[in-house]
Amino acid sequence: MNPQLQELHRDHVNLAHVLHLLESLLGEVRAGEHIDLNALSEIVDYVQAYPDLIHHRREDVIFSVYLEHGTGRNELVDRLMAEHVLLLKKTQEIREHIEQWCNDSPVPRERVVAIIADYLQMQWDHLNLEESSVFDLLDQELEPDDWVRIEAAMPAATDPLFGKMMRQRFEHIFDRLVAA
Ligand SMILES: [Fe+2]
Ligand SMILES: [Fe+2]
Repeated sequence: MNPQLQELHRDHVNLAHVLHLLESLLGEVRAGEHIDLNALSEIVDYVQAYPDLIHHRREDVIFSVYLEHGTGRNELVDRLMAEHVLLLKKTQEIREHIEQWCNDSPVPRERVVAIIADYLQMQWDHLNLEESSVFDLLDQELEPDDWVRIEAAMPAATDPLFGKMMRQRFEHIFDRLVAA
């Protein structure tokens, strides 16, 4: 597989770890345990800093070049690009909810569960659709010239949670990921 796609696949594996962590936080909320708003907030920070901002922009560069070919699966690629915009908005909404929950006492538990469960479903559906339907397609249909253009247009940044430069603001979720 093309190295750019391999890198995006690694991002998916990393994001899947964070989504599993979010699922375990959701399980704690459902069980009536303390809601770890620090960890929740760091997960949202991470998704906004890397998957929403960089990973999706990288995919958009590749998807845009694919769309220029005008071949069969444009509808699917258009849908994924629209989901990038929607996910950006949904992550921001979660951030606003967390800020509200930090000021609420007590936090409305059913609402927390509903919001996080919806968000998780959307993230998993998006990630699984790319993994199952699109990466192989891009690998087969894009030409060497396309990849040269893609590489020139790629935003450069490393994953702040899984890269070498660990950011202090992710310390809660990093500890939990290591423990898991
Ligand atoms: Fe995506
Ligand atoms: Fe992706």
